[in-house]
Amino acid sequence: MNGIDILGTGRYLPEKVVTNGDFTSIVDTCDEWIGTRTGMKKRRFADNSEPVWYMGAMAGEDALKAAGIRASDVDMILVTTVTPDFYTPSTACQIQLKLGAKNAFAFDISVACSGVAYAFDMARRYLACDDVKTVLVISTERLSQITNYKDRSTCILFGDGAAASVLQASGKRFSSYLKSDLDGSHLLFAARPVREIPFVDNTAPVREIFPEQEKSNGCIVMGGNDVYKFATRAMPEAVVKACEKLNITPGELDLIIPHQANYRIIETAMKKLLLPIEKCHVNIRDYGNTSSASMAIGLDECVREGLIKRGDMVCVVGFGAGLTYGACVFEY
Ligand code: UT7
Repeated sequence: MNGIDILGTGRYLPEKVVTNGDFTSIVDTCDEWIGTRTGMKKRRFADNSEPVWYMGAMAGEDALKAAGIRASDVDMILVTTVTPDFYTPSTACQIQLKLGAKNAFAFDISVACSGVAYAFDMARRYLACDDVKTVLVISTERLSQITNYKDRSTCILFGDGAAASVLQASGKRFSSYLKSDLDGSHLLFAARPVREIPFVDNTAPVREIFPEQEKSNGCIVMGGNDVYKFATRAMPEAVVKACEKLNITPGELDLIIPHQANYRIIETAMKKLLLPIEKCHVNIRDYGNTSSASMAIGLDECVREGLIKRGDMVCVVGFGAGLTYGACVFEY
């Protein structure tokens, strides 16, 4: 059995809504620019009572409830996040504690906004072995913590939230196509701020892997135009390649749930695939870019709103820092 069964999904979104208009008080921007260039109208921001582990645990609890599964029945917790609250332990271990999932092992993966595609692929590989029967996949992000509020080209893009799925093995159709592109790795990053430490020469220049790394200081740095171009190439490629592995065409997909980075990226990708935009689930207007949580939130919306039904062929497709990209095609 190489496929997955999605038993249930869930999500958590902070209550605080930040509108495009709110940004006009901190940077030189306007609702019209943000709306037409990105498709975004608002996004959610978490406060300190909603750390990343908490949002993830709430989404996980919601998904377990929908699946009718107890936390103690979960064998593996797999978390995707670019904004962990702690260096260690992993967000997955924190969520395990909060949920009381005492029989699970738990770990995080770091693939930025492509999270769900990588996590589903990894989950189904574990599920193909008998000792893992139930996997809880959680994507939880607090981008508002790593946003540079002086940079108008990035600060308007991001939002916070979490979503989760409970997976078990099945004989349903499944394929994946995962890649990371080293040529674009410098285009999108957030580097840990440099600390002064005893015993060493703190004046030694930081050996940089990316040009202008010092600009980051813990916040996102992005070459928006180049990431945009990359995304409009990578997303269709991933969809086509994942479909090819199942001997189907993108036209045979019932729904595509893309990473929500920019409405125009999604529109261009769909044009390249020769598919109508209606074949795509889009929620960018309400939540902005929530990194790996975006596809997970999209999937939960599709499940709960009945936009996908059992037997449908669904594709999740994303791209992000790395530059990672990838798609999973699965029978729901
Ligand atoms: O999750 C994965 C990571 N994120 C992405 O994938 C994002 C990919 N990139 C994008 O979505 C787009 O490149 C952006 C939304 C970031 C930028 O849109 P754009 O259409 O590529 O704009 P641009 O960077 O070419 O900038 C056009 C103009 C510039 O002004 P000048 O130089 O033409 O005078 C910018 O300074 O728009 C200006 N600008 C803004 N103006 C008002 C940039 N940001 C803003 C802003 N408000 N917030």
